[in-house]
Amino acid sequence: MLSVKNLCKEFKSGEHKVLAVNNLNMEVPDGIFASIIGRSGSGKSTLLSMLGALDKPTSGEIIVDNTDIAKMGDRKLIKYRRDKIGFVFQSYNLVPNLTAIENVMLPMEFAGMNKNAQESRASKLLKSVGLTEDKYLRRPKRLSGGEQQRVAIARALANKPKLILADEPTGNLDSSTGSIIIKLLKNLAKSEGTTIIAVTHDIGIANQAEKTFTLKDGKLTN
Ligand SMILES: Nc1ncnc2c1ncn2[C@@H]1O[C@H](COP(=O)(O)OP(=O)(O)O)[C@@H](O)[C@H]1O
Ligand SMILES: [Mg+2]
Repeated sequence: MLSVKNLCKEFKSGEHKVLAVNNLNMEVPDGIFASIIGRSGSGKSTLLSMLGALDKPTSGEIIVDNTDIAKMGDRKLIKYRRDKIGFVFQSYNLVPNLTAIENVMLPMEFAGMNKNAQESRASKLLKSVGLTEDKYLRRPKRLSGGEQQRVAIARALANKPKLILADEPTGNLDSSTGSIIIKLLKNLAKSEGTTIIAVTHDIGIANQAEKTFTLKDGKLTN
């Protein structure tokens, strides 16, 4: 269970203050595919960044595995991000000068796994996300958007994360590719026992989620 309590994030620019996340409470059971919807500016990315420890809350608690990550120091947070979280972004964010398989191996390299083990797990993951073998040695620019997102999902799964955070994962894809990517994420949540939280403003995607959170002005409306 991921549990968020009284979470706030305030941004200041000069005199101006924005309460991007406003005293938010949420609970996400393990192993489900959840979505967060809401208009642009409602605080979705800010919330996701805090869940993934890319950004620190102004106040409140984020309890993962019985530990409040909002209270962790920087060294522990680096480990938390590496071991517990997989990120998937709208713009894929693959390393351009690495091949598809090298991109998937990268987080395992950071975790200190040996090369052979990295390679065999990366091939297995690329297979499970449906990338054909002839594309494993291609660089991202020689892959379609849908293929790049498959690689990004395989990379997100590399270190067997507890939680995958996806920010508009289908935002750059046509709707049929987008729906394939969502099905893939949903199946992975089940087969790998990973919790997936996907931010989207596509209501079709939200409808496929087991739980949907609606954000408005930094607060949940449901
Ligand atoms: N780094 C930042 N500095 C100042 N304001 C920010 C920053 N990031 C987000 N905001 C503000 O916080 C609010 C929520 O933004 P965001 O989380 O990006 O919304 P969403 O992802 O739902 O579009 C917006 O008003 C936005 O302008
Ligand atoms: Mg956003």
